[in-house]
Amino acid sequence: MRKKYVIANFKMNKLDSEIEEYLSTLIPLTVAGTSQIVLAVPSVSIKTASTKCKDTNIMISAQNVSEHDFGSYTGENNAEMIKAVGASATLVGHSERRGGYGENDDIANKKILCALKSGLVSILCIGETIFDRKNNLTEKAIKSQLTSCLKSIYANEFNHIVIAYEPVWAIGTGVTPTNQEIEQSIKCIRSVLTDIYDEDIANSVSIVYGGSVTDLNIRELVKISSLDGVLVGGASLSCEKFSKIISIFEKKKN
Ligand code: 13P
Repeated sequence: MRKKYVIANFKMNKLDSEIEEYLSTLIPLTVAGTSQIVLAVPSVSIKTASTKCKDTNIMISAQNVSEHDFGSYTGENNAEMIKAVGASATLVGHSERRGGYGENDDIANKKILCALKSGLVSILCIGETIFDRKNNLTEKAIKSQLTSCLKSIYANEFNHIVIAYEPVWAIGTGVTPTNQEIEQSIKCIRSVLTDIYDEDIANSVSIVYGGSVTDLNIRELVKISSLDGVLVGGASLSCEKFSKIISIFEKKKN
């Protein structure tokens, strides 16, 4: 049975005090759940959030990690630093990092290797652009990103990897793929993992979907039997909407 995830990505939103307040409301609403709730908060709030979430079902994640160890990298945070203030995971390769900060698959790969060395879970974000989708290149893009991002990562490290399928064109647009398209991409991800590793590894990895997930379309998304979770951006900023997403996801049949 694969682990289920409901992940919030706050991106560059909410002050430390607002995150504390948000958690005061969210924590009592999540005590009975079985899915792993993850909050990817701004780095400056990891300590506040992780202290607040101690002994709860909520895991705190960074949104980014450096591909370097300690050194002269102004403005960066390495995996050890993130872990030391209480994060257990980090997003890697988010399309906003790829698009806005020149991150590529090679850098994402180095980031995962650093995260693994420090025992952090990597939530690896991959997904096609609108150009790929329109030109029938979705599977090619998924295969190429996965193969490069997972270079030198061993099968026994997969308990620290979650894959987030986030089509770039669905992020922040209000447009989502059809359930069939998401299912097809999940199938493609598992088939690439089978080729690189084996079927056991492919079937053990949790795959979540991200891109315009809301408290309204979650009812449709949970019908995807192969889906292990969701990664929510905009809608997660409202505690009411995010807790509704969690409670609907919790009722998912498979
Ligand atoms: P939205 O839910 O706002 O589309 O963002 C998705 C995302 O980027 C999550 O990482």
